[in-house]
Amino acid sequence: MDLTFKAGGRPIVDRVSLDVHPGEFLALVGPNGSGKTTLISMLAGLKRPHAGTTALDGRPVEGIARRDLAKMLALVEQQAGTGERLTARHVVELGRTPHLRPLSPLSQTDHAIVAAALDAVDMTPFTERLWPSLSGGERQRLHIARALAQEPRILILDEPTNHLDVEHQLGLLALVRSRGITVVAALHDLNHAAMFADRIAVMDHGRLVALGAPAKVLTPERIAETFKVRAFVEASPNGRCLIRYAVPATRPKDPIHEAS
Ligand SMILES: Nc1ncnc2c1ncn2[C@@H]1O[C@H](COP(=O)(O)OP(=O)(O)O)[C@@H](O)[C@H]1O
Ligand SMILES: [Mg+2]
Repeated sequence: MDLTFKAGGRPIVDRVSLDVHPGEFLALVGPNGSGKTTLISMLAGLKRPHAGTTALDGRPVEGIARRDLAKMLALVEQQAGTGERLTARHVVELGRTPHLRPLSPLSQTDHAIVAAALDAVDMTPFTERLWPSLSGGERQRLHIARALAQEPRILILDEPTNHLDVEHQLGLLALVRSRGITVVAALHDLNHAAMFADRIAVMDHGRLVALGAPAKVLTPERIAETFKVRAFVEASPNGRCLIRYAVPATRPKDPIHEAS
């Protein structure tokens, strides 16, 4: 492990060692620019580290053929694009590609998997809609459905809840958790990480600065140091926690201060 990735001569991921346990939900948190996306790209085999290796079942990912890797691991990128003329169904069908023989059509089973994936993200009513007509959140949900249709053992998600309303944010995190597969997700909402993750990895300036159960990692001290925010943390006996943020003291006359 000990992954390092450099850009412009400077390490943006700096000697990170991370062992992802089979079946766990691992949340990756950290401020903007802390290296989450870069680390995810290396875990998914999209970026080659300048030092260190990513291994899957003990095999270096760069030694695994793309098609074989796509059967094991699905990635939903932060800024995922898709061809303009595709329908929602077509987008999700792309998830079956690594499982098909070249040029062979989708089987009944493939169609059933695609339909189930659309249903899982509440997108069945949009099946025949064209991509450009969909909202940001609907597109995001389709990318998740595409990844689910891939039937991976490992699902890697970069800020999957970004464009989603609250219902679909919570629904999505509950859904991927319930699959029992390994999930690595970069999340901005620390409370979401605390609610759904088995372990949380905290990135700060390219370094992994904390790793463990939510209540162990998301302490007021850690939140202040890494996120520069004052917070109250209510820890639960089950290792989870609830975070309440204090309003930053930038405008002392702001009535919101008097209310809190
Ligand atoms: N190709 C690149 N050249 C220079 N800087 C880069 C490059 N790619 C990423 N960075 C920088 O590396 C840092 C980490 O980026 P990223 O992994 O996207 O962080 P995060 O996902 O945590 O917001 C950022 O400051 C970003 O601007
Ligand atoms: Mg990012």
